[in-house]
Amino acid sequence: MTNSIDDFSDILSRDEPLSQHTWLKLGGNAERFYNPTSRDQLIALVRCCIAQDIPVRILGGGSNLLVDDRGVSGAVIRVIDPLLSSVTIDGSIVKAEGGATLSHVVTESVRANLAGLENLVGIPGTIGGAIVGNAGGRHGDIGEFVRSVEVMTNSGDIAVRSGDELSFSYRHSSVSDLLVLSAELELRPDDPTELANRMKKIWIMKRSTQPLADQSAGCIFKNPRGLSAGALIEQCGLKDLSVGKARISDRHANFVVTEAGATSGDVESLIARVQSAVSDKFGVSLEVEIRRW
Ligand code: EPU
Repeated sequence: MTNSIDDFSDILSRDEPLSQHTWLKLGGNAERFYNPTSRDQLIALVRCCIAQDIPVRILGGGSNLLVDDRGVSGAVIRVIDPLLSSVTIDGSIVKAEGGATLSHVVTESVRANLAGLENLVGIPGTIGGAIVGNAGGRHGDIGEFVRSVEVMTNSGDIAVRSGDELSFSYRHSSVSDLLVLSAELELRPDDPTELANRMKKIWIMKRSTQPLADQSAGCIFKNPRGLSAGALIEQCGLKDLSVGKARISDRHANFVVTEAGATSGDVESLIARVQSAVSDKFGVSLEVEIRRW
């Protein structure tokens, strides 16, 4: 049976403020905001939007996202726990649905004495978002553990990407489909005490170097090859620089932190100021890491 978009009105909110769904807590409204409650409903909704030429944006944790103050037209579909969020473990294979939070997957893996993902402790967002952007840090990234990814393609088909179809590099993956439905990760058994200690150490290091208590979207810029964006920004003397209600963190210069009343314009001004200062001083052009809507 083919659905009409009106069949989804019970999970629709119109003109939903996206500031309530993003970590930077700013930006405009989503013209149509859908909260599906099951995998089948999600799939039917996406197919319906495609059939009716309604642009679709998938929102996961909203932790790596800058939404324009003008908001977005079309449909924003929210895919986060409890939707598509089951995590199951079979031997050293972890199967997670795309809306499971990465932190939940990390915890479940460590609880099953499986190593690899403990390196990703403290990274917010969903597995879907983590895979698409190959989330990671100094101790590794998620891509190295991904065995296969079940996706919905831009034309609404379901496909499994594996082997040659999957490649990951720094903050980038070959997964350019509309939506991650689930993924299989391959980990390795390890000693539980060592695992727990490693995770604790990484967490303590993060907490001491990053402004985790503030509103932010994590690092704003990618690290240029062999360099640290944070160090370059600090060397330009830009720590604590503010525009409106947005500010370069004094704890870690690659973080922009926001307060109530901040606008996407404030953040964009800071981005432009940083890029121009780093380019002038070091001849390095900083590439933005966060996603923009
Ligand atoms: N540094 C400064 N000033 C700063 C920030 C950093 O001098 O304001 C120096 C540090 O002292 C250190 C070097 O720069 O010598 C690297 O800093 P850090 O260890 O904090 O790592 P990073 O390269 O800035 C990366 C990821 C983080 C991830 C951490 C830890 C990127 C863009 N950032 O940061 O990821 O958490 O390693 O694994 O790759 C994110 O992507 O959102 C993110 C936060």
